[in-house]
Amino acid sequence: MKKKLLLGTGVLLAILAALFGRDLVGLYYLQDHIETTTKAYEAEGPWPQVADACTGCHGAKGSSQHQRYPSLAGQPAAYLTAQLHSFAHGQRTYPNMGPLAKSLSEDEIKRLADYFARQPASENHGFQPDPGLRAKGEKLVAAGGCTACHGAALMGQAQFPRLAGQGADYLRAQLDAFAEGRRVDPTGAMKAVTGSLSPDDRKALSHYLAALAPSAK
Ligand code: HEC
Ligand code: HEC
Repeated sequence: MKKKLLLGTGVLLAILAALFGRDLVGLYYLQDHIETTTKAYEAEGPWPQVADACTGCHGAKGSSQHQRYPSLAGQPAAYLTAQLHSFAHGQRTYPNMGPLAKSLSEDEIKRLADYFARQPASENHGFQPDPGLRAKGEKLVAAGGCTACHGAALMGQAQFPRLAGQGADYLRAQLDAFAEGRRVDPTGAMKAVTGSLSPDDRKALSHYLAALAPSAK
């Protein structure tokens, strides 16, 4: 009787393994995945983290999936800090970013800037450039000496932001804002740069820069 029962259990297990084996393996991998991603998350501090408040618009780890929302990943910490201060003090205006930046403490601003500066910049796969505009933009970048400030690979440095792989609609909106005096930078550099650019030039620049693959730093 005992032997029969044992045999029965064995058969049952074999049938269960055959039927659900793949699901069980899947469940194991899912658990493993949850464990490793939780560990990676907690490496930045306990839940909830202040950077979570940015994910909805600026994307996971600061890599935006939307052409109008800028990526923060890989931006120099000094640049990010300066922009958050500028939003908080009203020198740079945007409906949601002003009140949000005002609500952040100095310590939170520092931690956010350091966190996003450390994240790797990813390629802007969601954007399809117009080949003609892209070629025109490349010439304008060479003629405009953008690399002198924004870095040889346009990856940014110190107070100069990364432009390579940034959202196309965002880039164009910023170039338009500098040209029309709606965004003013402390040095006045971008006012001078955009002074000689037509609206078509600014569009071409945004196509070239958005499609430019970020390089490793
Ligand atoms: C509801 C959407 C939204 C949320 C949430 C949000 N942002 Fe923004 N943020 C924007 C938009 C849109 C812009 C571009 C503003 C403009 O066009 O000038 C922006 C711009 C910025 C910039 C300037 C980027 C640059 O390249 O100059 C920084 C820095 C920034 N946000 C940081 C943050 C941080 C940090 C958080 C979370 C604490 C956050 N944002 C949450 C929408 C959002
Ligand atoms: C003399 C230095 C200098 C040169 C040359 C320069 N820039 Fe800039 N640029 C800056 C600075 C400084 C900022 C940040 C302004 C601020 O703090 O608001 C900036 C910001 C920008 C931004 C906004 C990025 C963001 O994340 O919001 C864009 C776009 C940009 N520059 C494009 C260009 C292009 C295209 C060229 C060449 C045609 C160029 N710049 C040449 C100094 C320069």
